[in-house]
Amino acid sequence: MAQYIQFAPSILAADFTRLGDQVRAAETAGADLIHIDVMDGRFVPNITMGPLVVEAVRRVTSLPLDVHLMIIEPDHLLEAFATAGANRISVHWETCPNLHRTLQHIRDLGCRAGVAINPHTPAAFLSEILHLLDAVLVMTVNPGFGGQEFLPETLPKIAQLASMIQGRDIRIVVDGGINASTAAGVVGAGAQTLVVGSAVFNHRQSVLEGMESLRHAVGIKKPG
Ligand code: DX5
Ligand code: ZN
Repeated sequence: MAQYIQFAPSILAADFTRLGDQVRAAETAGADLIHIDVMDGRFVPNITMGPLVVEAVRRVTSLPLDVHLMIIEPDHLLEAFATAGANRISVHWETCPNLHRTLQHIRDLGCRAGVAINPHTPAAFLSEILHLLDAVLVMTVNPGFGGQEFLPETLPKIAQLASMIQGRDIRIVVDGGINASTAAGVVGAGAQTLVVGSAVFNHRQSVLEGMESLRHAVGIKKPG
């Protein structure tokens, strides 16, 4: 079945001294979403950004903002991220003991709801919650840092999810180590949205060149 592959550049790899320019460059290059990685130094061994950055990015783009919460006890911060301008909020399965409540809360705030799963977390753990999901974010590296190497053992899980969600309006998002060499494999397995950090924001090439080589890798010729 033909499907439209979305690209979600992750600003984790952007030059923060000129974040607005980098986000605008991604939009001009045909990005579909802007991915924002929130880390707390607890769930993952790194600290990044919070609602203030989401609010700043909201001011420079009209693209949907895809907020990936790598934080423990995310519930009490959901409203702050929604108010800051998030369009989709993904929480980690590993951080949410009452996942139904958390996902319903995200939807009640007017956002799309996603669940992220770590490389070791089985797809089957989502089987009872599919009706509350707009997206499943499959971590293809261990969360916490950009620029890590793709874990190929996640490919069968992507394929398993694709068959689990057949007929439902749920996007399969992959995140971590996606570049021109790994993109075709994840798309072949069933991924529909590719989060890309260091393959888009780097010193080797422009944002447009990075996006074009990704599109080429998955057989898309032109933006849009
Ligand atoms: C990692 C983050 C990713 C990260 C991906 O924990 O969730 O979104 O930005 O970066 P790359 O594409 O460089 O692996
Ligand atoms: Zn992410």
